[in-house]
Amino acid sequence: MARKKIALVGAGQIGGNLALLAAQKELGDVILFDIPAAEGLAKGKALDMQQMSTIERYDSVLTGSSNYDDLKGADVVIITAGIPRKPGMSREDLLDTNLKIMTNVANELKRVCPDAFMINIANPLDAMVYALKKITGGTKQKIVGMSGILDTARFKSFISSELNVSMKDVTALVLGGHGDDMVPITRLTTVGGVPVNELIKKDKLDAIVDRTRKGGAELVGLYKTGSAYFAPAAAAIEMAEAYLKDQRRIIPVCTWLEGEFGINELYFGVPAVIGANGVEKVVTFELTADEKAMMEKSAASVRKTAAETKL
Ligand code: APR
Repeated sequence: MARKKIALVGAGQIGGNLALLAAQKELGDVILFDIPAAEGLAKGKALDMQQMSTIERYDSVLTGSSNYDDLKGADVVIITAGIPRKPGMSREDLLDTNLKIMTNVANELKRVCPDAFMINIANPLDAMVYALKKITGGTKQKIVGMSGILDTARFKSFISSELNVSMKDVTALVLGGHGDDMVPITRLTTVGGVPVNELIKKDKLDAIVDRTRKGGAELVGLYKTGSAYFAPAAAAIEMAEAYLKDQRRIIPVCTWLEGEFGINELYFGVPAVIGANGVEKVVTFELTADEKAMMEKSAASVRKTAAETKL
């Protein structure tokens, strides 16, 4: 069986970690792409990680490039091209700059690998996935965004720290847009099968929800020169792996909705089955009135930013 090809558009902080995780998991061969001005970064990271392979013992071949033609035949493309936030910025503040970058990236991807499973990480997340879909003309199954899986990871890690128990026993779900009004569904969050509401007092749980919503900004505040990169990379690799190995995992992703959860014609975060066909099915369930209201609020912000792309 031929090896899979994983293309990473953007060889920056997240791009480098994506490459390392994809290689260590031997998901396939990895190509790191960046603009000509950063070609050395793409080639350097690839070379460094290729040398590392003899110690970490992975067989993936890593290369760097600034030529889109080298992405031909890619099975998966993960996009991080764009600028990250600086302290005080919202994800929406990145729209103008990152939309220009996405327009260029999407046109090139349409040309060289239109059938790849494309996972976008660039912010503002939901609007950027929308732009990617509009410009490439790809299917809703193949064009997705990485958001809920990261937001859920943050929520779960805060819960496991608070209770001082293994993260392995925390099950949670964060829906909605990848912004400050995302929707952690505490009602369905369990720890070792026990509802989290029984284990953590309301005020403490509210504080954890708030910290989750601002989880990205907390890291921007600490890093000062950029945004999170380890957990976002791991989250996108989990999605890529589910696709490449046809795992049929249920993962919260940013996907195109056509009425699910009462939301129509919007890229938005919901749980979905990820398998060999990409997003195979959105998993829906009944929301409470409060949850519905939070989803609608989040959807309204995402809709506003998506409209600003004028696509
Ligand atoms: N085409 C391809 N790559 C580009 C382009 C372009 N037109 N423009 C910029 N890039 C590259 C940059 O050269 C840089 O190497 O994108 C890379 C981005 O890397 P970082 O600045 O390190 O940013 P990173 O932390 O990886 O985040 C990237 O993901 O989480 C989001 O908000 C974040 O939108 C940001 C993106």
